[in-house]
Amino acid sequence: MKNIIFAVIGIVTLSLFSCQKSMQTADYQVVPLPKEINLNDEKPFILDKNTVVTYSKSQAELVKEAEFLADYFEDILGFRLNVICTEDEIDNSIRLESTQSFSEAYQIIVTEHFIKLSASTSAGIFYGIQTLRKSLPVGGKASKIAFPAGIINDWPRFGYRGMHLDVSRYFFPIDSVKVYIDAMALHNLNRFHIHITDDQGWRIEIKKYPKLTEIGAWRSGTLIGKTMAFDTIRHGGFYTQEELKDLVKYAADRNITIIPEIDLPGHMLAALASYPELGCTGGPYEVWRQWGVSEDVICAGNEEAMQFLEDVLLEVMDIFPSEYIHIGGDEVPRDRWQQCPKCQAKIKELGIKGDDKHSAEDYLQSYVMSRMEQFVESHGRHIIGWDEMLDGELAPNATVMSWRGSTGGYKAAKMHHNVIMTPNDYLYFDYYQSLDTESEPEAGGGYNSVKKVYSLEPIPEGLTEDEEKYILGPQANLWTEYSSEFNVLLYRMLPRIGALAEVQWCNPEQKDYDDFVKREYRLTKLYDLYHWRYAHHIFDIDVKITPNVQDGVLDVTMSKQVDGKIMYSIDNQRFVEYVEPLKIDKNSHLEAYVLYPDGTSGRCFRTDFEFSKASMKPISLKDQPHRNYAYDGARTLIDGLHGGSNYRSGRWIGWYGKNLDATIDLQEVTEIREVKFNLLINMKDWIFNAKSVKVLVSDDGKNFNEIASQDFDLLPADYASSYFPVEIAFEPVNTRFVELIVEPYDCPEGHSGYGYPAWIFVDEIEVY
Ligand code: ACM
Ligand code: ZN
Repeated sequence: MKNIIFAVIGIVTLSLFSCQKSMQTADYQVVPLPKEINLNDEKPFILDKNTVVTYSKSQAELVKEAEFLADYFEDILGFRLNVICTEDEIDNSIRLESTQSFSEAYQIIVTEHFIKLSASTSAGIFYGIQTLRKSLPVGGKASKIAFPAGIINDWPRFGYRGMHLDVSRYFFPIDSVKVYIDAMALHNLNRFHIHITDDQGWRIEIKKYPKLTEIGAWRSGTLIGKTMAFDTIRHGGFYTQEELKDLVKYAADRNITIIPEIDLPGHMLAALASYPELGCTGGPYEVWRQWGVSEDVICAGNEEAMQFLEDVLLEVMDIFPSEYIHIGGDEVPRDRWQQCPKCQAKIKELGIKGDDKHSAEDYLQSYVMSRMEQFVESHGRHIIGWDEMLDGELAPNATVMSWRGSTGGYKAAKMHHNVIMTPNDYLYFDYYQSLDTESEPEAGGGYNSVKKVYSLEPIPEGLTEDEEKYILGPQANLWTEYSSEFNVLLYRMLPRIGALAEVQWCNPEQKDYDDFVKREYRLTKLYDLYHWRYAHHIFDIDVKITPNVQDGVLDVTMSKQVDGKIMYSIDNQRFVEYVEPLKIDKNSHLEAYVLYPDGTSGRCFRTDFEFSKASMKPISLKDQPHRNYAYDGARTLIDGLHGGSNYRSGRWIGWYGKNLDATIDLQEVTEIREVKFNLLINMKDWIFNAKSVKVLVSDDGKNFNEIASQDFDLLPADYASSYFPVEIAFEPVNTRFVELIVEPYDCPEGHSGYGYPAWIFVDEIEVY
């Protein structure tokens, strides 16, 4: 409450200043939100061209942060503040000062005369600078900025605040990686996990093994989208050790530690293509042109291969001073090891035995990970590995990166191992961030909206207070199978990284999604300034369409999260401002968007409403759709809306192993002559056409007569459309109740789901 009162006083005071033309006001409501913002009713600090940035001679190292501040402010304001080393507390200064407080915390005191930013570490100073930078109004090019007087105290919730980037699936030039780091710095992140080797390309120069980059850094083509076809474009690239050392410094200057990942013993085809003798079969191998998990892995029974891994790690540790070295360990099929005489001999030699939980090969994997851990530890570092490390014997000092949900993190913390939380169902930024996937850059699948990211509580439930301490912090991962362009990477990262930053930095009780969206919207002005591409969904219009069975209309409500007006048009008429929910009762076309105060507008929402005699009528289902694809349930089928070709859009509902059996109450005796609907087809995902369709009618809703039926052949595997239209016409009949029964097939022979039921998906039932 106190903060709110101060804030109100602050706004009143400052509005006096904002009237002056060249004056704009700073706003400390940034992302991530500082822990404590206590404004007072003193006069604000007025920053102008004469403001200087100062630090003391005894803290000369702060010159670096002082220059960062001057650079960042210049980006926004268009003029540069002088940086001065002085012992004096001079008027009209932003003073940087090292003090005693705990790591990464900072304090900002704003008075009429000065801004004082103090912290015990350069990291703390840096985060204070980020807060000041993000407080500035962007785009106005004001010559004076009023900083409301008060005190900000701030510190992060988690010490580990990570972001990952896969540079193997696609190579990104070092300058792009620096931009990625810049974006991390803006959001107070401090660990950059670079996934620098994988099946599709080895991206780090290793002096002892030059073929890794001569051969392993290049592939002769790439899978095209989601087809089975390949292009023949040579793709690749790598970073020299010099470039990487420079990158380490670039990141360190921004208080970001780079954690390199050498993914072993799987995901190693690029290395095997370069040195085939390191694999179980001896090859030949090629740098992979496709995505997925390769059965070809490093031969765990080959001492030379183990030596190779250690040699590589040695050079990696020489480049990257990080306390942690990530050694992967994910997705290692055991097939080759089961067949390989060397691997089997190794299992014998080590006396490894399978048990009821794990196979001997599982323990062979544990042997490789533990051996690499010992090697890394003997050089004073520690390892991180993916949560597959728990499928066997966990290396004694390993930090576990929980990616298959949060379970691995929970288990590892219970075992008193450090944990980094990267649950794929919240923090995989390669997933879609909108359900309208047809309007998105193609992604592999999955759906993590900004809101979903924001909702993550990274400490798994059920840990004791002591066990919670093992959760070092959360990290988002950005795999690049579907992100060949840097712009797309930024789009996938922004603004989800804003939500991530609040998960990492803010305490749970501080989090407020609606408030975050407003603050994040302000931050996008900085993204614009730097020409960083970002996703706009959360600032766009949100349209909710609900069948109103009582009134026989569709209720359409529109909302937005940020300042502006909602404009809409029906049937291509003039756009007008939305003031209250619409009631739609006939076929129409709706368009709507948010008009922002600066005159720009958000994405235009468009939809068609198509009504039939079934629209908005009471509907009941014998069996509910599968819970994963139930969305709004039965009413989806009578809401006048059709789905696109994406069955996850929320406009389709799906049944698995059950009939769609729906009864619609037309509410009065009505003449009908046809029932129509579309089935969605996606055979790869086990979604097929129906085996049979029946239409039944009834006057009392109890006794039904079948009036039409049709059987269908299973569609051929090369069926090219996403839809299978069903139209059942019959002699006109007067009835009140209509029942539709749609019976699914099982997956056919030769299909990956053979022996299992197929899905059926329907978006709308039309009755005429
Ligand atoms: C992973 O996503 N394979 C760690
Ligand atoms: Zn082997």
